[in-house]
Amino acid sequence: MAQTFESLMKYPKADRETLEKAMEDAVRIIRADLSRFTNHFPSSNSFQGFYEPTENVEWTTGFWTGSLWLAYEHTGDQAFKDAAQVQVDSFLDRIRNKIDVNHHDMGFLFSLSCVAAYKLTGSEKGKKAALMAADHLAGRYREKGKFLQAWGNVGEASEYRMIIDCLLNLPLLYWASEVTGEDNYARMAENHIRTAINCVLREDDSTYHTYFMDMETGEPAYGVTHQGNRNDSAWARGQSWGIYGIALSYHYLKDESYIDLFVRVTDFFIRHLPNDLVPYWDFDFDTGSTEPRDSSAAAIAVCGMLEMVKYLDDQQAEKYKEAALRIMNGLIGQCANRDLEKSNGILLHGTYARGSRENTCRDRGVDECNTWGDYFYMEALTRLLSDWKMYW
Ligand code: GLY
Repeated sequence: MAQTFESLMKYPKADRETLEKAMEDAVRIIRADLSRFTNHFPSSNSFQGFYEPTENVEWTTGFWTGSLWLAYEHTGDQAFKDAAQVQVDSFLDRIRNKIDVNHHDMGFLFSLSCVAAYKLTGSEKGKKAALMAADHLAGRYREKGKFLQAWGNVGEASEYRMIIDCLLNLPLLYWASEVTGEDNYARMAENHIRTAINCVLREDDSTYHTYFMDMETGEPAYGVTHQGNRNDSAWARGQSWGIYGIALSYHYLKDESYIDLFVRVTDFFIRHLPNDLVPYWDFDFDTGSTEPRDSSAAAIAVCGMLEMVKYLDDQQAEKYKEAALRIMNGLIGQCANRDLEKSNGILLHGTYARGSRENTCRDRGVDECNTWGDYFYMEALTRLLSDWKMYW
C-alpha cells in the first residue's frame, strides 16, 4: 500500500503529553544504564534486548554520549553531564591514538560527544578532539571525484567509494570551518554533498547506499549496496540518512536547490511506509511482510523533517511537521521500550544489518535496539519538546 500525505493524516499524531511521557521513559532508561556505561560504552546493538559494555570502538559510541547530553539538557541533572564529560576524555584519547578511526564516521562519533560538549559547556577538550577529528576526516577527501572516501585505506582502488551515510559526517566539517575560520573544511563538505547527490539519488527519488568513483578520471562509476536488500533497492536507513543529511547541509549552506532534493527523498520515504508507519529495513518490503523493521530509520527521518521545517514555506513546513508527528506517534506506540526487564535500550525493533543474497553484510542486530535509534528518537523528542540548538 502506498502512503500519501492524505493517508498519513488519518493516523493519530503524538500530542505533547505523549511526547513528554516518552521522554521521561527514555531518560529513566538512560539513568538506569548510567553507571554501567560511563567508563564503557554500550555495544552498537543490543543482544536479545540488552546492550553489552564495549570500549570506545566502532562508529556508534558517540550516540550514547549524545544521549547523555540530551538527558542532561532535559533534566539539568549533573550526573548525566559528569558521565558525558568522562566520555569526552575517551574521545580525545581515541582520536589522539587513532583507535579504530580508519573510516569517515568522525561526525557520528565527535559531533554528538565533543562538539556537543563544546557547545553546551565550552569544553576546550571537546573542541580540541572534534577539530582533530575534522582534520582526520578531511584527510579522507579525494580530489579525484571530490568526495570523502568512506572506508578502508584512502586511495585504495577497491575502496574508492562514498556512502550516503556520510552526509551526517559533513556537519563536523562545516562546524570546523566556523570555529577556525578555515574555509577548506566546508569546501570539502560542500563538494562531497554535490558529488553524492549527483551519484546516489536515482530518478525515482530512491537512493543508492554506496557509489564507486573511477580512480583515474574521478567520474562516477557504479552504485552498489552494502546493507540494502539489492543493489537497486532502497535501504530504509540509507534513505533516512539522505533526508537528514540534506537538511543538515541546508542548515549550513542555505543552497535553495536542496529544498527540492529534500522533498524528493522524503516523499519517497513517506510513500513507502507500511500501514503501521514503522519502516521495514528495506523498501522492497511492505505491509504484511515478515521481514524485520528498522525503527531507527523512522527516528532519523523525523529528525531530518523537523530540521527542514525551519526553512520551508509555511505550507510545506506544516505538511512535514504533521507527517513527523504521525511517524513519531507510531514509534512511541510500537517501538518505545518501557520495561527494563525486557531491554536496556530505548527504541525497540531496529535492524543494524540484514544479510541478503545481493548485499555484502551479515545479519547483525536484527529486531534489536541500536544506539543510533535510541539517540535519534531522543533527539526527535527533544526537537518536539523544546527549541533545541543542535549538536550537529
Ligand atoms: N552508518 C552505518 C549504518 O547506518 O549502519
